[in-house]
Amino acid sequence: MVWAHGLRLPHDLRIMIIAIDGPSAAGKGTLARGVAKHLGYHFLDTGSLYRMVGLSVLRGKSDAVAAARHLNPTAFNDAELRGEKVAEAASKVAAIPEVRQALLEFQRSFAQKKPGAVLDGRDIGTVICPTADFKFYVTASVQARAERRFKELEATGVTLEEITEDVKSRDERDAKQSQPADDAIFIDTSELTAEECLHEVIKVIEEGQ
Ligand code: DC
Repeated sequence: MVWAHGLRLPHDLRIMIIAIDGPSAAGKGTLARGVAKHLGYHFLDTGSLYRMVGLSVLRGKSDAVAAARHLNPTAFNDAELRGEKVAEAASKVAAIPEVRQALLEFQRSFAQKKPGAVLDGRDIGTVICPTADFKFYVTASVQARAERRFKELEATGVTLEEITEDVKSRDERDAKQSQPADDAIFIDTSELTAEECLHEVIKVIEEGQ
């Protein structure tokens, strides 16, 4: 981060923001959590915010916009958040501009946590933190993503074909908010293990600091 006069902000005063965007099941959550842990930064899985709103609507508690305006942070760890029904509801509420607007401030203020924050989502590098220090766009083929999701959900009796269709329809719904920033670094995880992926990203960050 360089000031207008070319002076560098002293290292201990800088707040580092790392944006990790990409489609569902591309491995960005595991990666973002790993990066945050490695660097000792705060971590926010912004998909959980949309899932909380989706869950609230599914439970008939409130409408989507009201739920987004009155987020209940205790719901962050609700086990139900990870389910496919909630994922679908989240993807629907995420298309409502007022919902996105209501969640924007929460995400931006989280990004200001010292000494730094890693946020994973869809629009972190483009809308939430367009001046992030590092922007990554994490992708993988539909097939690789469906297979990963299938491994997680196999026990529930779902088929690989169903999951593949699910991944494709979520991609279509998320397409509008899931555009890579012009200055994002692309990471294709189709052929990488989680460790290899983390290693690659940490290398980029450490070399770029
Ligand atoms: O990453 P995820 O599967 O937990 O996200 C759930 C839904 O929320 C997903 O369909 C897209 C949406 N989302 C979004 O629109 N913007 C974000 N920053 C994060 C998630």
